[in-house]
Amino acid sequence: MNFEPKILSFLCNWCAYAGADLAGISRFQYPPNTRVIRVMCSGRIDPAFIPRAFLAGFDGTMVLGCHPGDCHYLTGNVQSERKIELTRKLFEMAGVGSERILLDWVSAGEGERFAQVVHGFVEQIRDLGPFVLGHEIKGKLRAIRASLDGEKIRWMVGKGPELLEKENVYGERLSKEKVEGVIEETIRDEFIKNRIMLLVESKPLPATEISATLNLKLKDTLSYLVSLVSEGRLGFDPSEEGKVPKYVLNP
Ligand code: FES
Repeated sequence: MNFEPKILSFLCNWCAYAGADLAGISRFQYPPNTRVIRVMCSGRIDPAFIPRAFLAGFDGTMVLGCHPGDCHYLTGNVQSERKIELTRKLFEMAGVGSERILLDWVSAGEGERFAQVVHGFVEQIRDLGPFVLGHEIKGKLRAIRASLDGEKIRWMVGKGPELLEKENVYGERLSKEKVEGVIEETIRDEFIKNRIMLLVESKPLPATEISATLNLKLKDTLSYLVSLVSEGRLGFDPSEEGKVPKYVLNP
């Protein structure tokens, strides 16, 4: 098959972008499959950019920043590592190919390494084949994007390390496993809630239909619906009064 992967790359201005420049000056060959966006630091990457890239038709996304300890803004690359890890978890949970997302480090003096990283990732995506944007995958990507745009996950990205390092109000320090568990539960809940919101966006739906479309037990679907209604994000279709309740987005 004659497949040429389309890769969106976010390159930190101070290291990976300069590394790409050096690769060009030094004439290290690398495949021309990437479209580059230069950012001042890999920490600038908003995780919601990643599902957006796939929705725009890219087959893979690459974030290249400064090596640990070399970030010009001290901890930007640590933050980007956390953001990408969380984004990957969401993709994995949704079954949408987390292996199509790469985070790596390349310094300004590593032109050859830049070429190798690009080459390796392009080959990896070539082996995986084109990213097919079917109706269901689109729905999942939109739910991932909405989850990453939401306050809860943003808070977790920012506060994750604090939860591990600081004691809580009861003087307890949470274990890494406990924090990971809370994060996984939160991202799963946010993802499912956003999938429900996107489903009822187009038309009012009853719980049974939502449950069947999401392949989720009716009992679990109802518990998410109750939670969404109590948060004021969903309401009931008034034209269906007296019949099986259908859920709608609250204006
Ligand atoms: Fe390069 Fe922060 S300045 S990753």
